[in-house]
Amino acid sequence: MSAQAATPSAASAASAASAAPPLALLCGASGFIGRHIACALRAAGWQVRPASRRSAPAVDYTRATHASDWQPLLQGASAVINAVGVLRDSRARPMQALHADAPCALFEACAASGVRRVIHISALGIDGDGPAARTPYARTKRQAEERLLALTAQGRLDGIALRPSLVFGAGGASTRLFLALARLPVLALPRCAFTARVQPLAVWDLAEAVARLAASPAASHAANARPLTGLLELAGPQPLTLAAYIQQLRASQGRPPARALALPACITRASARLGDALPFSPWCTQSLHLLSAGNVASPAALPELLGRPATAPAQFMQALAAAAQADAPGVRKPQNGRDEGGAP
Ligand SMILES: NC(=O)c1ccc[n+]([C@@H]2O[C@H](COP(=O)([O-])OP(=O)(O)OC[C@H]3O[C@@H](n4cnc5c(N)ncnc54)[C@H](OP(=O)(O)O)[C@@H]3O)[C@@H](O)[C@H]2O)c1
Repeated sequence: MSAQAATPSAASAASAASAAPPLALLCGASGFIGRHIACALRAAGWQVRPASRRSAPAVDYTRATHASDWQPLLQGASAVINAVGVLRDSRARPMQALHADAPCALFEACAASGVRRVIHISALGIDGDGPAARTPYARTKRQAEERLLALTAQGRLDGIALRPSLVFGAGGASTRLFLALARLPVLALPRCAFTARVQPLAVWDLAEAVARLAASPAASHAANARPLTGLLELAGPQPLTLAAYIQQLRASQGRPPARALALPACITRASARLGDALPFSPWCTQSLHLLSAGNVASPAALPELLGRPATAPAQFMQALAAAAQADAPGVRKPQNGRDEGGAP
């Protein structure tokens, strides 16, 4: 782990001491990862105040770019989690505002309001000097990380930026795409899908890790407990190529291996450009760059946070089916962004 222990959070300690459940502001609560984090936080005894364009009041990152926009939403909060993000840069949802300007304003507001615990969902593979690191996605994601880490280094926040690899789970756009591909008898994929490796992690593991990080050190009640801060890469237990991952999902559904073929580079580029024109497709030029760069990290951090082994890709389908049958928190329907911790 590159994250470090910091001084105890006064806000967390205060909520541990008080009888009321601690309150977390969860930005992006209506999203794939955010919905699962909301469930994990509630299961861990938190009240959740959701913030997104669908919450009440609605919070639009294209407008909430000044610290003063965030102050009212922070009232009573002991922790803030930011899980807002987009894969496409567009006029309606510009990455500069969504990934950098609004989160930076949020972090400044947290520092000014004494809400020390901030957990920011960033992404793996945004560093380096290749085309992936030069994408607007990577550049804007790094800006928010840098501000969070600077405020933490100044002692004004206990911030942690999580960099997950590819996330699997109910409601994920990339999960939907890979499951659709896993049903096909022929797997025609870009060449990089046979060479670059990903290290998928289950969304329920990620959400539980976030809830644990939010709770520390409140959960421990120890005076010298120190929350983890800094940058933390989170990956599943098994690095594998995207092609092997899809074959794995296929095998978990009891299907024989698909015939696999690598698409010529010109067709790959054309399909990514076609994806660029389809606003809701997770496949686009940017994801091609990110995939080509690979998306792997040490598998040690996640089990260390969870206190148990992380879910392996071979178990994803079974765990998903079991959760759906039990109506487990991870597959509950979203609540239109409304929650018990509505903004004052
Ligand atoms: N999924 C993965 O495999 C993966 C892997 C690594 C990192 N990540 C990162 O994790 C974060 C969450 O990803 P996700 O897969 O959960 O994405 P998602 O399902 O698309 O959710 C995105 C969230 O952002 C919110 N949002 C979008 N535009 C907004 C705006 N203008 N103002 C306020 N909120 C806005 C959405 O809420 P509304 O639409 O309701 O406003 C939604 O809650 C992203 O930063 C992503 O880069 C994801």
